[in-house]
Formats: sequence, C-alpha cells, structure tokens
Amino acid sequence: MRILSGIQPSGALHIGNFFGMMRPAIELQEKGEAFYFIADYHSMTSLFDAAERRRNTLDVALDFLACGLDPQRAVFFRQSDVPEVCELSWILSTLTPMGLLERATSYKDKSAKGIPVNHGLFAYPVLMAADILIYDSNIVPVGQDQKQHVEMTRDIAIKFNEAYGETFVIPEPQIREAVAKVPGIDGEKMSKSYGNTIEIFGDEKALRKKVMALKMDSRTPAEPKPDAELNLAIQLLKVIDASTGKEWEQKLRAGGLGYGDLKKKLFEVYWYYFAGARAKRAELVANLDFVNRILAEGATKARAKAQEVLKRARKASGLE
Ligand code: TRP
Repeated sequence: MRILSGIQPSGALHIGNFFGMMRPAIELQEKGEAFYFIADYHSMTSLFDAAERRRNTLDVALDFLACGLDPQRAVFFRQSDVPEVCELSWILSTLTPMGLLERATSYKDKSAKGIPVNHGLFAYPVLMAADILIYDSNIVPVGQDQKQHVEMTRDIAIKFNEAYGETFVIPEPQIREAVAKVPGIDGEKMSKSYGNTIEIFGDEKALRKKVMALKMDSRTPAEPKPDAELNLAIQLLKVIDASTGKEWEQKLRAGGLGYGDLKKKLFEVYWYYFAGARAKRAELVANLDFVNRILAEGATKARAKAQEVLKRARKASGLE
C-alpha cells in the first residue's frame, strides 16, 4: 500500500503544524510505503522570493527528519526533483473541465479575497492530481482543507481511464481526524497567517518570553477557577501532554495556583517534549550533506516510479 502526501514549505514549524500534520504523517510511515515530498512547485503559486523558498524547503526537510521521519522507511524528496509530474500535469489538464477548477476552493477563496490569482494557482489541483497519480498512490492523508483536491484527483483519474483505458490507480483520501484544536497565543486557531504561533525550533529566551506572555485574566491565584478547561495555558499543556494537562487543570480549578507558575510549567513541558528533536536538528544542521543525500536518494526512488507511470500514461494516450 502506498501512502503519499505533500507538505508545503511554508516557514517555521509550530506546535499547530506539529500536532496537526507532522506527527500523524510520521506515525503513518509504519503503516505502508510512505512517499512524502516537499511541495516546492506548489509553493510557487503564492511565494515569489527565491531565497525564502530555498530556505523554507531546507527547513521542512530538517524539521521532518528531526521530528522522526525515518528515511529508511519513507521515501522523502523534493517535488521538483521529479519533473515528470509537470508532463503528467499537462496531460491531465486536457481532461480537466474548466468548471471543476472554477469550483476549487484554493482558487475561489483567494480570488474572492481580491488576491491576484495566477494560472498556476488555478491549475494547482491538476498538479496535485499528477503528484498523486504518478506514484500509483492508494492513500492520501490530508487535512480537511485538501479533501476537495483529492476528490478532484479521483474525478480526473476516472476520466483518463475512461478515455484511454485503465491506467491510474484511484486514490482514497484519508482525512486526518480533527486533532484537539491547537490554540495560538491569542486563543484563535494557531496559524502562521494569524501571527499567533509558538515555534518549535528557535531561541529559548524568545520562546520562553512568548509563553510567559500568554494572556490570562485578572483573577487572583487563590480563587478557584471553575472554568479551568478554557484556560489557554491548560489547553496547550493538554495538547502536548494530556495527563500533565489534566493534572494541572485540576490544580487551577481548585484555586491556589498562580498563572505565572502555570505558564512556567507549560514552558518546561513544551521545552522538554521537543528536546530530542532540537538536538537532532542541530546535528542535521551541522551535516547538511547528509540531509541533501537523503533527499537525493528519495528523489531517485520516487523518480523511477514516476517514470514508469508516466510511460504508461504516454502509451495509453497515444504519445508513444
Ligand atoms: N496542497 C497540499 C497542501 O497545501 C500540498 C500537496 C501538494 C499535496 N501536492 C499534494 C498533498 C499531493 C497531498 C498529495 O497541504
């Protein structure tokens, strides 16, 4: 069984990404042959800074490897190292109705917000279909926001199979269960676009300051807090370590626990939780040749599969 997913290179890893996407992806590497790639082609639809793309791409690679992606189990590579997807994307685009793309939320939302849209963004779901189909993927684990794209992939694959004969495996989306909503430092959903993130790798002092600045109300430490489950520090603590979170929720509820002490505990638990990953990441940063070698080996494996499937599609459609 092949499991495939793409990860947008979109900046510093934070607690929300880690628990929402990265940890589930890493756990899945045990369940089948996982192909994970860094979606650098897709990033071009909305990021126009070359140095930033290069940096973000390397960061995703470092973050994933530091957090436990095992290159012995999973094939880990850069999307653009397999340019065959672009050819397949063209082939698929000729079978993709305009109406289907016009209904895609990725494009619709941005154009509704008045953000200028380019053809790449419009065609984004077709490239994503090529990403998925070119590796004969069976399972595509994605967040709820990407479900529509996987459904479009199925539609496009079925159309191709009908027009040119059985060629593509029809993939199944696997929608990640809504993990406990990870709140940001303002209580809204943690997201880079809201500027409310707590990063995982970074300067200890600055991160401690962020955690200690979490906004609390003005009740005195002595007061019992019957609404302890709504407290932001408690919610974050529960995401990172459920049992410690529950224990401290009780303490807060009972009264006698100051917010300063609670936030200190949160910082300590969070810092300790990621200590191993931080050490691993520092090692990798000192050994970028090793990281690049992993990506190159991943690309070689992925490319062999992509060439095989592309050839099948070329033959089926009369290009060969
Ligand atoms: N669009 C996905 C996202 O923004 C990334 C992605 C690109 C992807 N190609 C894919 C995900 C193929 C799964 C399969 O998260």
